[in-house]
Amino acid sequence: MTVKKKWTVIPGFLALAAAAAMLSAYSGASSSQGLRVEQPVKFVHAPHVAKAGMNCLYCHNAANKSPDPGIPSGQTCMGCHVVVKTGSKEIQKVAAYYNKGLPIPWNRVHKVPEYVHFPHFRHVNAGVTCQSCHGDIQKQGAQGPDTNYVPVQQAKSLNMGWCVNCHVNGYKPTEGAKAAGIALTPAIEAMPIKKARYDCAVCHY
Ligand code: HEC
Ligand code: HEC
Ligand code: HEC
Ligand code: HEC
Ligand code: HEC
Repeated sequence: MTVKKKWTVIPGFLALAAAAAMLSAYSGASSSQGLRVEQPVKFVHAPHVAKAGMNCLYCHNAANKSPDPGIPSGQTCMGCHVVVKTGSKEIQKVAAYYNKGLPIPWNRVHKVPEYVHFPHFRHVNAGVTCQSCHGDIQKQGAQGPDTNYVPVQQAKSLNMGWCVNCHVNGYKPTEGAKAAGIALTPAIEAMPIKKARYDCAVCHY
């Protein structure tokens, strides 16, 4: 390669690097695999899902109809906790926010950059189990808020390679069921692998 040719290539490369840097900056504090964030109340998924048998959609009730799944309001919590475990320090914190008319200031854990389009409902309605992407969150806080408490953690990288890999190779219902701790049945085993589109504009505005 001659010196001249080399220099004609560099501006293009710089433009690309600048665009990438801008995009990363725009994404703000991007989260990563294993990320965990302290929360104002030591919320526990396990007692609600595993013990009380609640469905994820009871609290994240927009997951099957909108891009964002939603976080439950204090009123939803108090629907039970006016009577359940009222002696608990963590429940008293929930009640204090509620009585002051304040929302619980939960800290966001999972977040893709603003320039990425991620519709929850498209995945949930295609049968992709929550745990395929969020790990075995139904076990989070299994020992209660007072013993070895670990807050919600980000189970997957949520990076582009992770998204594209599933769209190209397809979602396998048997793997999704295993991740969710659902026993395999002939019906699940007969479900086809689900692929999704992967051109840039599917995920980028
Ligand atoms: C009793 C209500 C309730 C139920 C049931 C519930 N969640 Fe949650 N979930 C919450 C609350 C409150 C938060 C925010 C506090 C936190 O992160 O600990 C949360 C946080 C999360 C987060 C992290 C959100 C973020 O900031 O990135 C995920 C992911 C999640 N839940 C998935 C699930 C899944 C999957 C199920 C079913 C297996 C489920 N939840 C069942 C109340 C619930
Ligand atoms: C459908 C009823 C129901 C709803 C709604 C509900 N909970 Fe619970 N919660 C329970 C049950 C049942 C337990 C387990 C009690 C036990 O371990 O004996 C529990 C346990 C807890 C604990 C552990 C308390 C401790 O000290 O062991 C916390 C914290 C908690 N809930 C917070 C919340 C928050 C925050 C919300 C709203 C986002 C919420 N709950 C909504 C029924 C509910
Ligand atoms: C295909 C992967 C995938 C599936 C399936 C999935 N999620 Fe998510 N979830 C994500 C990603 C990616 C984010 C970050 C989205 C964003 O930043 O807009 C997220 C974010 C969340 C959040 C935080 C959003 C907020 O507004 O605070 C909650 C809560 C959540 N998911 C719950 C669920 C529940 C419940 C289910 C099942 C009903 C589910 N997710 C299924 C990938 C997934
Ligand atoms: C575990 C597999 C899996 C992962 C991981 C996954 N997806 Fe998907 N995605 C699907 C499936 C299945 C569909 C539904 C296709 C359908 O309905 O035809 C889908 C649909 C979509 C759609 C709608 C596509 C359309 O044709 O309109 C978008 C946008 C999307 N996903 C973005 C993302 C992004 C962004 C990520 C990563 C943050 C991601 N997905 C991660 C499996 C996955
Ligand atoms: C299935 C969803 C999906 C598709 C399809 C997709 N992307 Fe992405 N892309 C993402 C997600 C999620 C991120 C943010 C996380 C990351 O940086 O890996 C991202 C990030 C990026 C970034 C920023 C990287 C950085 O370091 O800041 C660029 C540039 C990009 N994508 C370009 C493309 C191009 C070009 C295509 C088409 C060839 C494409 N993407 C297709 C999901 C997708």
